[in-house]
Amino acid sequence: MNIPLLRRLREARGVFIPLAELGTDLGRVRGELDELEAFGFVLERHPYRGVAYQGPAGQFCPDQIEFELDTQRVGRRVAVWSRVTSTNDLAARASGSSANDGLVILAEEQSAGRGRRGRSWMAPAGSSLLMSVLLFPPATLASAGWLTALGAVGTAEVVAASTGRDARIKWPNDVRVDGRKIAGVLVERGPGAIIGIGLNANLARDDFPGALRESATSLRILLGEPVDRSELARALIRRLDHWYELGRSQGPETLATPWRNRSEHLGQTVRVTTPSAELVGHLDDLDLLQGLTLTLPEGLRHHVPLRDLLALGPADAGPDDAGTPGRSGG
Ligand code: BTN
Repeated sequence: MNIPLLRRLREARGVFIPLAELGTDLGRVRGELDELEAFGFVLERHPYRGVAYQGPAGQFCPDQIEFELDTQRVGRRVAVWSRVTSTNDLAARASGSSANDGLVILAEEQSAGRGRRGRSWMAPAGSSLLMSVLLFPPATLASAGWLTALGAVGTAEVVAASTGRDARIKWPNDVRVDGRKIAGVLVERGPGAIIGIGLNANLARDDFPGALRESATSLRILLGEPVDRSELARALIRRLDHWYELGRSQGPETLATPWRNRSEHLGQTVRVTTPSAELVGHLDDLDLLQGLTLTLPEGLRHHVPLRDLLALGPADAGPDDAGTPGRSGG
C-alpha cells in the first residue's frame, strides 16, 4: 500500500487533489487509489477535481501503523488480528522467545478481554484500541507498578494530544477525562512482561452498557467524531517506546514526574489502604518508586512506602472502586 500517498491525502483534510499532482503515471496513481479504497479508506473521486480523503479504514492498517514508525523497541513487530480471546493471551504465547521483545498485538475484537480484579473488558468489534505490548524489561523496570505507570502515562499522553483535554491517571491503572474512564491498563507476566491497554476510541454513548454510560467515555464522545485508530495505535506505540527507552537508559525514576503530573489524586483528600490501616488525608506527594506522603487530619505527616500501598482513591469512595463489578471501563 502506498502510505506516502495516503498521508498526502489525509493531510489535505477532505480537499480534492488533482491526480496529476499525485504522480506522473496516472494509471499507477489510479491503481494505488483503488488499493486504498479496497482496504477500506474512504476516498471521494471526481473526474476533474481529483481525489479527496474522507475517512480512515474501519480496520487497523498495519502498513499505516508501521510506516516510518522509528521506534527503538516497542513496535519492532506489529501483529494485527481480527478476533482473539485476549491480546494479552497472544502476547503471552509469544513470550517464549525474547526475540519478540517489543512485539505489539492489536485486535479488532476480544472474546474474553480481561480487566483488573477478574473483571471483563468488553468493546464492540472495531470500536477500540485493544493492544498488548510484550517486553523483557531489566529488573529495574520490571515491577508491575512501573509497567502499569508506563502504559497509563503513554495512554494519557495520547488521549490528551488527540483531544486537547486533560487526561489523568486514577491509581493504579485507569486513564480518565473529567472523572470518566477512557482507558485501562492490565499488566500480566509470563517469561516476559505484558502491558495490555484498552482505550475507548470510537464507542458512542449507547455502546456502553447502562452502568458505565455515566462513568466512562471515549475519544469519539469527547471529539464529536470518530478517530483514526491506526494513527492512535501509532502514537501510543511511540509514547510507550519513548518512556521505556528513557527508563532503560536513565533509570526508572524518569517516569516518576510525568506519572505524578498526571495523577488525579495529588493535592486531593484521599483514602489509602495499607496492610495495617485505612488512612484518610491530604495527598502531598506521590512517588512512583518511593510511595506517598499524606497529611492526616490531625496535621501529622505520614509516609506510606510503595510496598505497603494496597489501595489509593478519593476519600469519598470505597477502596479502589473503579467501575462496576464484573465489567470494566470498555
Ligand atoms: C482495567 O481497567 O481493568 C484494565 C483493562 C485492560 C484491557 C486491555 S484490552 C487489551 C488487553 N487485553 C485484555 O484482555 N485486557 C487488556
